[in-house]
Amino acid sequence: MKKTVIENMPDMNQARKRVESIKTIYYNYEPSQKLIDRFKGKYAYIRTFGCQANVRDEETMMGLLSSIGMIKTEDPTKASVAIINTCAVRENAEDKVFGEIGEFKNIKAKNKDLVLLLCGCMVEQKHIIEKTLEKYPHVDIFFGTHNIQDLLRLLDEFITKKSRYVDVSSFEGNIIEKMPVTRIENYKAYVNITYGCDKFCTYCIVPYTRGKERSRDINDILEECKVLVDEGFKEITLLGQNVDSYGKDLKNGVTFAHLLEEVAKLGIPRLRFLTSYPSDFKDDVIDVMAKYPNIMKYLHLPIQSGSDDVLKRMGRRYTSEEYLNLVNRIRAKIPNIALSTDIIVGFPNETYEDVLKTIDVSLKADYTSAFTFIYSPRKGTPAARLVDDVTYEEKNKRFKELVSALEVNFKKHADEMVGKVYEVLVDGESKKNKELLSGYTENNKVVHFKGDESLIGQIVKVKILESHVYSLFGELVDEDSLIKSKCEEIKKNIESSALVKEYLHYKGMIENDHELEQMHNKLLFMKKCDLNDEEKVEYLKLKEEYDNNPIVSNYNRLKKEIDDLKIEVKNLLKL
Ligand code: SAH
Ligand code: SF4
Ligand code: F3S
Repeated sequence: MKKTVIENMPDMNQARKRVESIKTIYYNYEPSQKLIDRFKGKYAYIRTFGCQANVRDEETMMGLLSSIGMIKTEDPTKASVAIINTCAVRENAEDKVFGEIGEFKNIKAKNKDLVLLLCGCMVEQKHIIEKTLEKYPHVDIFFGTHNIQDLLRLLDEFITKKSRYVDVSSFEGNIIEKMPVTRIENYKAYVNITYGCDKFCTYCIVPYTRGKERSRDINDILEECKVLVDEGFKEITLLGQNVDSYGKDLKNGVTFAHLLEEVAKLGIPRLRFLTSYPSDFKDDVIDVMAKYPNIMKYLHLPIQSGSDDVLKRMGRRYTSEEYLNLVNRIRAKIPNIALSTDIIVGFPNETYEDVLKTIDVSLKADYTSAFTFIYSPRKGTPAARLVDDVTYEEKNKRFKELVSALEVNFKKHADEMVGKVYEVLVDGESKKNKELLSGYTENNKVVHFKGDESLIGQIVKVKILESHVYSLFGELVDEDSLIKSKCEEIKKNIESSALVKEYLHYKGMIENDHELEQMHNKLLFMKKCDLNDEEKVEYLKLKEEYDNNPIVSNYNRLKKEIDDLKIEVKNLLKL
């Protein structure tokens, strides 16, 4: 068996500590020629589990591998470098990762030159590294969430020393800028604004695996976003475990609301952000959201539980009443906003009444979607030490009850969308039916519809035809027919307006007045004839008499007002 070099091992006690100074380091590693020669033109495979933070990390890792000439592949059997980017948030996430590591045993047996690396949140736990070192000898390199910038250096060390490598530190507080990036999509992108988390919710592993909360400099964020705008990206999602605390550590007065506004001003068609922490969410963010149409009217605001007792034991720093007050303040300024949430069922010693409270608060918050989880004890977190008297079967039963209650609400919102037209950013083939495309509406609902592949990455208009609990089905609306139906709607509105009614009233009076009708007909006849001077004078006199009639002058005034409006509408619709 190969020798193992352990440079750094993670340590939960160190991970709990919060370092004072945060350094911004600019990436500048020079890979060796030997490394380039070995991997240039070869394939790299990255399998990512977990949240958007990991997805963004994948893009950096692929950027680093591309910088030595590697090509991305979806086929692990073709790969010369394979990375498993892990998640530790719940036990089932870890189980999936071990399944994937197991798969590589056979792949590596057939391809001895393959270098297999393990990174991400799971690797930040010592017991996981120990287990993997022992049970999975085919894993070559372990690196953590804090040293992604070391990827090429570790590969260099590995090919030189030919030993297994572990380099995972726990309490890094640095920010690494200017790392290369290879985006997974060319139309939507994640942009980190903060790293780490300082909240230490008692059930959660993230503050230990991702380290101290630290904010990127606003200029670095804006620069990354500007590149995306210039490259024609359609959507940016600003990322942080708690975006609302952006800037607290910078101590330069820059807040999340300020940052959000600056990014919105860059002109990206769609701007989103994840995740918001209820008691850190400030009202100035609502104002910025309301002000900029390109900030999507969708907010993910995890509540976790509707019971104040459970919230307290989870270490969440708000009550259900404070949460609902915030929801009301948001809805007062953005009435059409779609709200989603995260909920954990089965926190140690949670009662059935606690779950009923969660259902009650959820219905009041009126979510359009939610991510629901059964509590999973995470080694080293405070909640994992709590004795729990509720069985898993009971938790599962309560979980199902919560989900059924929420689904009624989701369906209600989906039903309300039927018959309306929404803008959808097209993602690609629908996973369930390859004949269809799918994409997300502004309020983050997935829509399936028939359409050409060339629409992928575009924002199109889709009319919703059918609603389901978690998805919608619709049809593409072509722009011309949309404009026509808009015109029809405006026409109907105009016809039913007071102005038009008055106009039609005078028109009717003229038509029913025999004398006026005769005058009108005579004027029309004379206009068509070749008049001599005397007849011209007669015509003008008659016309003056006709126009000065109070009924006719009212009719003419109203007709002019309507004609002006028509011109305005035509200009507006650019017909
Ligand atoms: N920073 C974000 C996301 C954290 S992880 C936030 O605070 O919302 C995403 C979700 O996983 C959490 O919101 C929580 O609902 C869930 N989660 C975290 N730890 C968990 C655990 N130990 N068991 C079950 N669900 C958990
Ligand atoms: Fe975990 Fe809480 Fe931080 Fe979210 S806010 S990452 S749930 S500790
Ligand atoms: Fe998982 Fe780490 Fe994200 S634990 S949810 S990948 S921050």
